Amino acid sequence: MKKVTIRDFIKKKSKEKITMLTAYDYPTAKIISSTNLDGILVGDSLGMVVLGYPSTINVSLRDMLSHTRAVVRANPPQLIVVDMPFLTYEIDTKLAVKNAGLLIKAGGEAVKIEGGEEIKDVIKSLIRAGIPVMGHIGLTPQRFLKIGGYRTIGKTKQEEEQLMKDSIELEDAGIFALVIENTYADIAKRITEKLTIPTICIGAGPYCDGQILVIHDLLGLSDFTPYFAKSYVNLKEIISNAINQYINDVKTNKFPEKQHYKEKES
Ligand code: KIV
Repeated sequence: MKKVTIRDFIKKKSKEKITMLTAYDYPTAKIISSTNLDGILVGDSLGMVVLGYPSTINVSLRDMLSHTRAVVRANPPQLIVVDMPFLTYEIDTKLAVKNAGLLIKAGGEAVKIEGGEEIKDVIKSLIRAGIPVMGHIGLTPQRFLKIGGYRTIGKTKQEEEQLMKDSIELEDAGIFALVIENTYADIAKRITEKLTIPTICIGAGPYCDGQILVIHDLLGLSDFTPYFAKSYVNLKEIISNAINQYINDVKTNKFPEKQHYKEKES
């Protein structure tokens, strides 16, 4: 499969749905490599689903760098987008460019940052430095404290108008795609129709240009699966059954079998 670029994402708008999943490690990225998925997000959701942190606020740049390198080593044809973690882009634009640069040097091909019109200057500085940026509006998990929890955004007219405004401002600033998380489907539809760049939705309905899911939700590995995610397999159950079978086999001398060991005198 040919390497997917940000231009391919833009070209697909309104023509073909864009598909993205998160991945945080080499074996998962290797499996994804053999599929037609368009993009991998090394998401800061890794904090919860891989590292056991209570929220994405605890994720460090070092965590993101290490997991980005693991994904990159699988050499996937998919576009690799990397989340900039909490407080690596909000303090000042110079620091944002430096931190995003480290993620790109680690092999990321674009960064994703959460926020609306207030991060326009950061986006412009990153793009000036040659770093493609994906936006992220709606529920922005790094700001769950300010938002008042993990809730659907856009209930009030004011929130709805702010989402519209943010999406237009971010497109003006130069983002190549926009993640819209946990808002009403008709709001995401309006944004999708308004923008010339693709929208990638999670919990924002079917009218976007693409969809993204946390891979642990898709595989049935998460402790908590949000209402908008779909599990295609229950890997937790499959893995737990395999471990129990192994325990039983060892205790009953069914493993190792003849083909699993060598004897000198045979
Ligand atoms: O970190 C992540 O997994 C994300 C997706 C929910 C879009 O940002």
